[in-house]
Amino acid sequence: MKEKVSDRVGSAFGGETYEQDVIVIGAGGAGLRAAIEARLQGLSVGLICKSLLGKAHTVMAEGGAAAALAYVDNRDSWKVHFRDTLRGGKFLNNYKMALLHAQEAPDRIKELEAWGALFDRTEDGRILQRNFGGHRFPRLAHVGDRTGLEIIRTLQDKAVHLGIDVYMECTITKLLKDGDKISGALGYWRTTGESVLFKAKAIVLATGGFGKAYRVTSNSWEYTGDGHALAYHAGADLIDMEFVQFHPTGMVWPLSVKGILVTEGVRGDGGILKNSKGERFMFRYIPDLYKAETSDTEEEANRWLAGDKSARRPPELLTRDVVAKAIVKEVKEGRGSPHSGVFLDIASRRSAEDIKRKLPGMYQQFKELAGIDITKEPMEVAPTCHYAMGGVRVDAETAAATVPGLFAAGECAGGMHGANRLGGNSLSDLLVFGRRAGLGAAEYAKKLSSQPTVDMGEVQQAQQQMSEPFERSRGETAYKIISDLQEMMETYVGIVREEKELSLAVEKIQQLKKRAQNVCATGDKAYNPGWNYALDLTSLLTVSEAIILAAKERKESRGALTRIDYPNTEEDWGKVNVVIRKKGTEMTVAKEPLSEMPEELKALLQETI
Ligand code: FUM
Repeated sequence: MKEKVSDRVGSAFGGETYEQDVIVIGAGGAGLRAAIEARLQGLSVGLICKSLLGKAHTVMAEGGAAAALAYVDNRDSWKVHFRDTLRGGKFLNNYKMALLHAQEAPDRIKELEAWGALFDRTEDGRILQRNFGGHRFPRLAHVGDRTGLEIIRTLQDKAVHLGIDVYMECTITKLLKDGDKISGALGYWRTTGESVLFKAKAIVLATGGFGKAYRVTSNSWEYTGDGHALAYHAGADLIDMEFVQFHPTGMVWPLSVKGILVTEGVRGDGGILKNSKGERFMFRYIPDLYKAETSDTEEEANRWLAGDKSARRPPELLTRDVVAKAIVKEVKEGRGSPHSGVFLDIASRRSAEDIKRKLPGMYQQFKELAGIDITKEPMEVAPTCHYAMGGVRVDAETAAATVPGLFAAGECAGGMHGANRLGGNSLSDLLVFGRRAGLGAAEYAKKLSSQPTVDMGEVQQAQQQMSEPFERSRGETAYKIISDLQEMMETYVGIVREEKELSLAVEKIQQLKKRAQNVCATGDKAYNPGWNYALDLTSLLTVSEAIILAAKERKESRGALTRIDYPNTEEDWGKVNVVIRKKGTEMTVAKEPLSEMPEELKALLQETI
């Protein structure tokens, strides 16, 4: 149970101190699932949320969780799911993670159901599964277009009933170590600005992504890459940072909601994309890898929608990297919609009743935010920064990072999705690896005979750093620096990249880092967003630099990374991860080999089902 050590022994640093066996930082799906598992192992567990419990990017995985339950199409199996995931990730995935994921996802979904999640149903009462990009068969267990929300609701309920201690509105700014191993974390309460120290035997990072490094994003304010940055500064490896997923369909209008997600479920349920000339343009963008299974005529795509199992899937269900790039090209070549997007039409494909039943969130979102009735009119959409494929390098089985006592799961862990994630694989990923991280952390913590020692000198130094923005009377606000950073990332490190622009980005990030040394805050520490942003800025700069350096290193195009100066996918680059590592104060970049896949798994990749 939660032990507030400072009440018992006083605090050596003037803030509250808590002691737990396992601390989980981040309370979205991965964090909740990890916390549940560690608690089920009999350990005391603290769960730290940057905002309020239940407010997490998990809810933005609206369309469903991918699992080869084979309830809607009995040709599905973990083998096909594994193959689809590797193809989607352009074969750069950590194959062990993709394998465990495909094999364990069905059990995690059934477990959720047993814990109270209410999925949509087939006519014979089984969990209903919908189509999504890159998945060969209808595979996404869903609850209308609010699947992530239902998953969070279920996990939250379970966690609270298990007696997990929840610390809300708390931002962690530093991981602490005893020698080479984790000993705790330091942070502050957003409500009071006071520092808080967590002593722990093991820490699980589940902080999600870093969408806020970009101007247009589906991510909300919390997603500043904190876990990535905490891990990096603690000495852990980051991999695949060059791969940032731009979801093809975000809202473009009104400006105040630009970037908000429009679920892939719209296309999964038959929605089509058209340009300003009324052309269904995706037929022009079918990559060789997907030619055999993608309709190349409207007639065939329409038969698929009508339920003809012999018809091939429509091109709108190609993988996200392909669809996002196609939209960018249409707009660039002058065939965009009035607000520089394209049209997504479900109205002409499904009845109003179906749309309201299957996509209630989208119906409401467009009605309320844009004054559009999607049962009658098309939506205007364009790509939005949605997901980080790159993250903390972990062991597939235990989710252990390269720093002893540190674990990572969900979006802030790297490897599972390779160069591009399939929609719906994030929810199943966070369930599979959230559980594994909780288990891994619990087993590690049980083996430690005592709580590691926290170095109070390190704590005081970190505390001092947190206060620095108040000590500068003249300087810049974090808002301005963050907004310039977002603009720079959008312009030079967006969907399409090239050496010249990446080199400029390297220069610009150094300038921004310099400006950040002079960031100032005024007022007092309680609920002070100016100060909070100043602290988030450290994480944003760290992850942005990592993205830029990794993108510059990889001289090819693959999945979500498009280099116009290196347009081909190169065999040799398919054998290595780009690894970001801290050496002294320097960020270093290395190429390291992927582990070799056994022959029997390689054979699965060739299957043409
Ligand atoms: O489009 C969506 O519903 C998002 C799903 C995901 O990112 O997995």
